[in-house]
Amino acid sequence: MYEKIDVAKLHLEHYPAPILRKVAEPVVEIDDTIAALVDLMWDVMFEADGVGLAAPQVGVSLRIFIVSVTGRREDGQVFINPELSNLQGVSETEEGCLSVPGVRSKVRRAGACTVKALDLDGNTFVLEAADLSATAVQHENDHLDGKLFIDRLTTVGRIACRRGLKQLEREYSG
Ligand code: NI
Repeated sequence: MYEKIDVAKLHLEHYPAPILRKVAEPVVEIDDTIAALVDLMWDVMFEADGVGLAAPQVGVSLRIFIVSVTGRREDGQVFINPELSNLQGVSETEEGCLSVPGVRSKVRRAGACTVKALDLDGNTFVLEAADLSATAVQHENDHLDGKLFIDRLTTVGRIACRRGLKQLEREYSG
């Protein structure tokens, strides 16, 4: 199904790459290519000391993300075709993004949420996420809708991040 994706050629995409702004497609079959893609995503995420990564960040517009809030593989979870619900409370956490290097800012999100998704075996699971886990899930899920944390900054945060974003625009455009 997805054999056209050349996993060996994938690499981390940086803002302002257009792929980061696309709404990703649902996964229709979890085949060997999807498994290889997820393996590559873990490698990319751990190499960059991240706690989450979404498939569009390696140039694949599919609804998949991975999260490990401890930064350890054994604590990691794969979310395929995730659906968020029961967004509750408010939490303001400093966020960054592997695709937006050098830029960090506080972002206001729900403090807890429920996420329903498929794992790599195609089994549905439901996770009640809170605190750091809820922040990570919402941040990664945003990637699947073409949204970045820099879209959710306060006015003060936007001013603070402006220089860093301009620099990335110069470095990674075209
Ligand atoms: Ni991100």
